[in-house]
Amino acid sequence: MENEMTTAARLQDLEKRNEVAQQGGGPNRIAKHKQGGRLTARERLDVLLDPGSFVEMDRFVTHRCNNFGMDDNKVPGDGVVTGYGRINGKLVYVFAQDFTVIGGSMSRTQANKICKVMDLALKNGAPIIGLNDSGGARIQEGVESLGGYADIFTRNVLASGVIPQITGIMGPCAGGAVYSPSITDFIFMVKNSSYMFVTGPDVIKTVTHEDVTKEDLGGATAHSQKSGVSHFACEDDKHTLLMIRELMGFLPSNNLDDPPMLPTTDRPDRICETLNSLIPDNPKKPYDMLQLITEVVDEHYFLEVHKHYAQNIIVGFARMNGRSIGIVANQPQFLAGCLNIEASRKAARFIRFCDSFNIPIVSFVDVPGFLPGTDQEWNGIITHGAKLLYAYAEATVPKITVVTRKAYGGAYIVMGSKLLRSDINLAYPTAEIAVMGAEGAVNIIFREAIAKAKDPVAERARLIKDYEEKFNNPYLSSELGYTDEVIEPALTRKRVIDSLEMLKNKREVNPPKKHGNIPL
Ligand code: HXC
Repeated sequence: MENEMTTAARLQDLEKRNEVAQQGGGPNRIAKHKQGGRLTARERLDVLLDPGSFVEMDRFVTHRCNNFGMDDNKVPGDGVVTGYGRINGKLVYVFAQDFTVIGGSMSRTQANKICKVMDLALKNGAPIIGLNDSGGARIQEGVESLGGYADIFTRNVLASGVIPQITGIMGPCAGGAVYSPSITDFIFMVKNSSYMFVTGPDVIKTVTHEDVTKEDLGGATAHSQKSGVSHFACEDDKHTLLMIRELMGFLPSNNLDDPPMLPTTDRPDRICETLNSLIPDNPKKPYDMLQLITEVVDEHYFLEVHKHYAQNIIVGFARMNGRSIGIVANQPQFLAGCLNIEASRKAARFIRFCDSFNIPIVSFVDVPGFLPGTDQEWNGIITHGAKLLYAYAEATVPKITVVTRKAYGGAYIVMGSKLLRSDINLAYPTAEIAVMGAEGAVNIIFREAIAKAKDPVAERARLIKDYEEKFNNPYLSSELGYTDEVIEPALTRKRVIDSLEMLKNKREVNPPKKHGNIPL
């Protein structure tokens, strides 16, 4: 049997095939790709995953398209590297598009590979992380590649709330390449190197005659500051991948799992002395809520999400006594901490993520109300503000709220108040829990009395002072049981941890239903 291959020859053949697959689009395309400081798909997975943990699947898959000479342009793997590996020892499924192979474009077979790991992730209850770098639907394949996208979108939707889905946008992502990421839970982008748009600058120029660069239209800064599509804007590929690892440390593997515990040497009863002087005596003076957050959490470490978007509200992850928590906090330094459309959407989505994955929510409240104005009203603050209300009320994870200063009216109810099923409400002695601010209240209820007074200015000032003394404190809400305890700020860390421990086994179930109808 002269023609029969020996085992050694077969091994050599396998090695050769593997080498070809490893080369992706070949040395020239790789060199071009790396000019801008980008890593290749495989290098990205090396940074993302624990060393040596990556197991590749479907390395020899090729496309099946014969149009436009595509039969001569087959690369094993077909523009995406897929498989599984570990982050800090925990299983994750991954796919990384390879821009050097036909621009990372989505073929039917590339979609099949991605769907395969998504299915495994869902069946095995482990997160899926996608590193996207693709020119969108593979144009030569036509509608078949659209079918591939639809299969991925469907899986994104079915996996939503069951396993964490994370996206790194690592290069230009156009057309269909942006919709799957937007269904996932968190999007990371690379500054000056990654882009997301449904239609690019050329199409925009033709249709609307606007001149806009790729960066201005859909760069990391645009999407993390203006649109809010991206949650993190990172410095380069490596930073992005390390940030994804960082985030994963706060998350459980699936919706039935508890979030990971990280042992800490930070004492649960650490007194936060500086907080006793953080809130200014003048209630109109801002202060930095981030200072409060970093003071109370373990090792002072807070992973802020959506840092550059809707800065009047802060959201992010931290740990308290080792336990992952989600933090939502008004930021008096921006728009006086008012709730507006962007802040409501940002916080609502974050709360729903935490609730899906059993992460308790700790809220710090200093909110004068919803931002007034025609812009807000005409753009639907009623609907968007209701999203935040809905998210807080729907959430069944432990919910702990600390009112530091203002908590007025509807915004008080919304921001994790006891009235929306929050478990523990604490307040500082500086808290002002009232239906509205004193000036507004006096202007309405004493309009006539002020007008008739001998000295209307003095009368108004007297009434405001009177109203403030009566209502701008945490004691009326305490009398009603809406506030569980008025605490010295220095005890914030201890009390929040006491509450989290007390609520550790909380079980609360919403009525069975197909799904709610959140005001979208
Ligand atoms: C096939 C593609 C491709 C695509 C890029 N390539 N996008 N091939 N289908 N969608 C190929 C290019 O022809 C090129 O091949 C190689 O990838 C590298 O692309 P370049 O253009 O040289 O790279 P760059 O200059 O960096 O520009 C990247 C880009 C640009 C901005 C992504 O390629 C681009 O605009 N592509 C088309 C984007 C687009 O319109 N997609 C929408 C598809 S429709 P060679 O051999 O020359 O090196 C869609 C609808 C889905 O996605 C809707 C679902 C809801």
